[in-house]
Amino acid sequence: GTAEAPAEPGESPKRGRWAPPTLPTEPSLYDGPFPFYRRPAEEGRFSLDAQRRYHPDARQLRYFAPPPAEHPDPAFDLRHGYRDRYVRRDESRREGLEHLLQWVAGNRDRLEWGPPGWRPVNADFVTWRGHLTKVLTTPYESQEGWLLAVSLFRGTLYVSEVETAAARQQREQRSDMLQELAYMGYKFERYMCADTPDGSPDPTGVVNTNEAFCTVVRTRLGSHSLLFAGEVDCTDPRGAWPEAPACYVELKTCKELHSPAQRKSFYRHKLIKWWAQSFLPGVSRIVAGFRAPDGSVAALETFETMKIFQLIRGDRGCWKPAVCMNFCEAFLAFLKRVVTEDDPQLVHLFAWEPGSPVSYTRHRDAEHVFLPAWYVETISG
Ligand code: A3P
Ligand code: MG
Ligand code: MG
Repeated sequence: GTAEAPAEPGESPKRGRWAPPTLPTEPSLYDGPFPFYRRPAEEGRFSLDAQRRYHPDARQLRYFAPPPAEHPDPAFDLRHGYRDRYVRRDESRREGLEHLLQWVAGNRDRLEWGPPGWRPVNADFVTWRGHLTKVLTTPYESQEGWLLAVSLFRGTLYVSEVETAAARQQREQRSDMLQELAYMGYKFERYMCADTPDGSPDPTGVVNTNEAFCTVVRTRLGSHSLLFAGEVDCTDPRGAWPEAPACYVELKTCKELHSPAQRKSFYRHKLIKWWAQSFLPGVSRIVAGFRAPDGSVAALETFETMKIFQLIRGDRGCWKPAVCMNFCEAFLAFLKRVVTEDDPQLVHLFAWEPGSPVSYTRHRDAEHVFLPAWYVETISG
């Protein structure tokens, strides 16, 4: 589609061509005190089943059931089942905000604010946690850019990711080795989780990546109220924080670390993503399995999300949580400043590539519109 030229009312053409505002991303600009971030509260839950069907309940929630020792014994085999017990989600199907909007539509009564019809969804922003994770890590990201589509509808800004050409190419040309690595991440979950609170893991089962359990949380960053959903790996009702979302545990795999230099690099480049993903929804623990070359897990390590900043504090060249959060706050303020026309058919596409500021284009074509007609009708009616 073609982009409309950004137009700002009141700008005189005599003063030369008006340039749309951009948002810089250099970390030094966002260094400062940690902004206000309200403790995330769980508003709801939903599940996607083996056929990727939506259910407004927690049927896919799994339970944290780690082995008793720090080294799994008998050994985990993360490669087991890759060829014959793997049902992969069709990643070419772009789902956008679909399932989250289903949850919002089903919970309209609780989300409304003010006189009837005034603000049907009482939040400044509705989006996926994963989109916000990308925003948080932007000041430190040097590899992958992003595209975020934004529409203002009935007082709420909806933010939905659009796949970049580079990401699409990577996805379509992913090597068998990378696909097996991705499988190993899911397989680790099978070894660490049970289907019932008192059950034990059954690692012989099929890995089906259509299945997901999602939490919907409400929080506030500075002056921005947020409602977002995120996929959660499991819960530990017997842990130190029994209430959702703090009871949730994020599972991760990572190549085994052999030297202090490797650990430092892991802190700098990988832990930032783990931290951002879990900090946003208030998930209190990340349990990592360090992979050995044979596909076994050499060691397990628990990271408390709120203590990660202590691990990186001593490294001067490392990322800072405050920079991530301050940048996110500035980005949300930028969206509010730019997207002011309340119209689900109008899409502002915000684009970012490493080394550049965030810029945007305006679109009115059907190709860019992402709020489904059924949702617009449900919320308008
Ligand atoms: P890891 O946890 O070992 O990275 P998540 O950790 O967010 O719960 O995701 C579970 C697994 O999905 C990941 O395991 C990884 O294997 C796979 N995965 C997640 N995001 C991915 C991406 N962008 N590309 C490829 N695989 C991904
Ligand atoms: Mg997960
Ligand atoms: Mg995980």
